[in-house]
Amino acid sequence: MTKDWHILGAGAIGSLFAASMHNAGITTTLLCRRCSKRDHLGELCIERSGGTDELSLPVSFNDDPHAISHLLLTTKAYDVRTALSDIGHRLDHSSHIVILVNGMGFMEELRSDFPDFQFTAATTTAGSYRLNTNTETDQRHFCHAGNGLTRLGQTGQQEPPAWFSDWEELTLPCTWEENIEDCLWQKLAVNCAINPLSAMHRCKNGELATRPELSNLVRQLCDEIAQVSLAAGFRETSMEIHRLVKEVIRDTRNNRSSMLQDTLARRRTENDYISGYFLKVARQFNVETPANKAVFESISRLDQRGE
Ligand code: PAF
Repeated sequence: MTKDWHILGAGAIGSLFAASMHNAGITTTLLCRRCSKRDHLGELCIERSGGTDELSLPVSFNDDPHAISHLLLTTKAYDVRTALSDIGHRLDHSSHIVILVNGMGFMEELRSDFPDFQFTAATTTAGSYRLNTNTETDQRHFCHAGNGLTRLGQTGQQEPPAWFSDWEELTLPCTWEENIEDCLWQKLAVNCAINPLSAMHRCKNGELATRPELSNLVRQLCDEIAQVSLAAGFRETSMEIHRLVKEVIRDTRNNRSSMLQDTLARRRTENDYISGYFLKVARQFNVETPANKAVFESISRLDQRGE
């Protein structure tokens, strides 16, 4: 048993896992990039049906010299590379690094930047969002909206490593996946169909099913996603994408997608690592994807204007 994890990127999902690890008796330290004070503890408040967790976790600063044995990284996709290089001096080939981030494309970047490091990819359907929007305050306040399922894996590693026993103790359900690439692609595919449209039309996920003009667009996106998935060898996603997207829209009908939340908060979106990555794969296999290209370009324009 490891019992010692650092969390880099304690936003909604990172904080949820930090709280869950702490509650499972694991020593959990938040890594802090921008904190000005050196001695305060990381205060988290997580509301869920059935109670509220208020926790004070130790904080470690990126420039501390101490080695990190186990790291969970949960930043935005476009921050992954810089975030990891900021603490590169605290990691080595024996560190275990789990990357739980929306989108795809950054693993390739990390493997080329840090060829000796051991990376595990992860994807989750757990739901969590920030309740207080003042990111300057030390206390971070979140709502835990659903347990979902968190899937972890390493290409070519069928059996879970020893440290995975820590994750099995969490109240959040976690599984080790033999074929994590399929899971990551499936999540990417669902995000491609939901996130850009919901952000462009500033609507909750459910409206993508109830407004006929939007449900037609969802269908067009899914048709293209099915073709690219088939060409890229993701047969199951290709067969299931229409059904999967319908189910996610139904199950998350009252949610604002992460991309809509980013655009409403005038933050950069993860467009380059969601639709952008998808279009790169489509080009690789010479599949025409005009609907996905159009939504990618619309979100890029919003990102450029900071809207
Ligand atoms: O990115 C998101 O918001 C979520 O992955 C999903 C499934 C689209 C639900 O809102």
